[in-house]
Amino acid sequence: MNFAKKLNLAFLPTPMQNVEYGGRKFLIKRDDLTEFTMSGNKIRKLEYLLYEAKKKKAEYVFTCGAEQSNHSRATAIAAVKIGIKPRLFLWGQNRIHPEGNLFLDKLAGAEFEFLNVNQYKSVAALMEKRKEQFDKKGKKAIVIPEGGSNPVGVLGYVNFVDELLRHNQLGKAKGILTAAGSGGTAAGMLIGSALRKLDLKIFAVTVFYGKRQLEEKIFKILDDFQRRFKTKINVNLNNLEIIEGYSMEGYKNIAKEKLEVILDFYRNSGILLDPAYTGKAFFAFKDLFLKEKNPNVIFLHSGGAFGVFAKAKQFLKVLS
Ligand SMILES: Cc1ncc(COP(=O)(O)O)c(C=O)c1O
Repeated sequence: MNFAKKLNLAFLPTPMQNVEYGGRKFLIKRDDLTEFTMSGNKIRKLEYLLYEAKKKKAEYVFTCGAEQSNHSRATAIAAVKIGIKPRLFLWGQNRIHPEGNLFLDKLAGAEFEFLNVNQYKSVAALMEKRKEQFDKKGKKAIVIPEGGSNPVGVLGYVNFVDELLRHNQLGKAKGILTAAGSGGTAAGMLIGSALRKLDLKIFAVTVFYGKRQLEEKIFKILDDFQRRFKTKINVNLNNLEIIEGYSMEGYKNIAKEKLEVILDFYRNSGILLDPAYTGKAFFAFKDLFLKEKNPNVIFLHSGGAFGVFAKAKQFLKVLS
């Protein structure tokens, strides 16, 4: 689906793995293996977003997220790799001993602005303001929104649908389940499925926004996409099922029973989930689909493993 050009930063296609766990057999699409420090779902979006940034001769790329943002970490190293300076606007605080993703941001040489929760609410406006200031100084900056979820970024998951189809294993699958933050991954898959006339349910487990808010975000992405690429796509909105209630402990926290599931799954499959997104999404997957004899829903492993290191103390508590 040729809407725009992209860079090649990820190792694609990622594997579709048959997994046996808890007496059930199911498929996992391993987007945690898209790369190493650039890994996870975000690199698919960044291939398009950074192509644009490069074409516009950007000197800086600004983006945002929480202190342990996978998106910010992947953006930082991908930008540096192609000669663009990353500046990250993070909800959290600077640390003498940074962990996980923040540590990797520092290794990549990113610049930072740390924000408290209230300041972060207007992060989009702040990035625009900073862009104006940088542009005035002759330092051309490009703003990538939270999660890379704009029409150009979601192309990563529009085209992901073709990759899914090439696996030839979709036969019995009624849907695919993903963790959802900014909604771009789910929106991209909805658009890609519509374009390929594929009747695939997208189960989006929200880890940050409420159901209504996430729905609005996804609908806005769908509208913006059609406007940006001047196309009319008949997205079947019945194919979107937003699942909430699996992040009641809060986005930055993780409940003990979810840590236990992450550990158990790791020890039985060798696949490491993350505490902010895929651990919570897998908990929902287990609760909702692994009770069925033949779970015919694919689990999308969207990455995030470095977040585990920022939760080492909590994991060790579960082990003790
Ligand atoms: C590991 C992981 N999974 C899922 C998501 C959610 O993707 P989206 O923001 O496209 O909804 C993110 C977003 O940061 C992520 O880091």
